[in-house]
Amino acid sequence: MTTAPTPTARPPAAVRHKGLIAVASGKGGVGKTWLAITLAHALARSGRRTLLFDGDLGLANVDIQLGLMPTHDLSAVIGGRLSLGDALTAYGNGGFDIIAGRSGCGRLANIPQTRLQSLADNLAGLANAYDHVILDLGAGIERTVRYLTDVVGTCIVVTTDDPTALTDAYAFIKVTHDAQAPRDIRIIVNMATSLREGERTYAALLKACEGFLKISPRLLGVVRRDPKVRESIRHQTPTLTRFPQSEAGEDVEKIAARLFPALTAVRG
Ligand SMILES: Nc1ncnc2c1ncn2[C@@H]1O[C@H](COP(=O)(O)OP(=O)(O)OP(=O)(O)O)[C@@H](O)[C@H]1O
Ligand SMILES: [Mg+2]
Repeated sequence: MTTAPTPTARPPAAVRHKGLIAVASGKGGVGKTWLAITLAHALARSGRRTLLFDGDLGLANVDIQLGLMPTHDLSAVIGGRLSLGDALTAYGNGGFDIIAGRSGCGRLANIPQTRLQSLADNLAGLANAYDHVILDLGAGIERTVRYLTDVVGTCIVVTTDDPTALTDAYAFIKVTHDAQAPRDIRIIVNMATSLREGERTYAALLKACEGFLKISPRLLGVVRRDPKVRESIRHQTPTLTRFPQSEAGEDVEKIAARLFPALTAVRG
């Protein structure tokens, strides 16, 4: 006998799409949006067909960081006036596509569950046309984040060495892990004072995950704190365009290269 889905039911693991990569965190302000943009840019520069989806519904700021004024955004999709595919904006300067959100849009923040479900399903469908779809998510574990993380193949959890960021990253991993069957959770330590310090931060998080959750999420990479990040955001220009030799930019390029084998496995 099958049971009707409960109001909080989420999609089964079977609908997860391996090309979909969420960039999430427990605590806000750890650099998710900047990382999602820079990762999408690095993948596009390596010839990958890449889509960046602004999944921070209601507080979107991919377009702000890039200085874009998209003619279409998610609010028209949620309003039923556009299909998700029609809301694509080609970001020529970066060589990748974007689906923008709309900051301060109550309709996006309070999107009904059925719309959220179909948005997640449509996104998984759209992902077939790309090598990678990067989802920039809002901080925390609220409803929209949980829905969107449930369709992704890989969930990147971003933390810094700040103890509250680490605690919240652990909480995010715990909730994500509890919710469904095992998934591919990877860690990025951002704004690290050095690569070695970043690895130490990861080791602390890993210890908690292994001790309490009995899982060992892998380190995807460490990104160093770099004043060029803030400067490029201030100029609303991608870091890899404005400062291609920057430490943070190089760290993200290495991370992008580490995602290639996953792509081969998907296609293989
Ligand atoms: N590697 C880095 N070095 C220096 N500054 C950084 C780095 N990464 C991010 N930042 C800074 O952190 C700030 C927050 O970045 P961002 O908006 O991408 O975080 P977020 O996690 O998306 O925040 P929110 O949770 O509010 O969506 C930015 O102003 C940016 O300048
Ligand atoms: Mg953000």
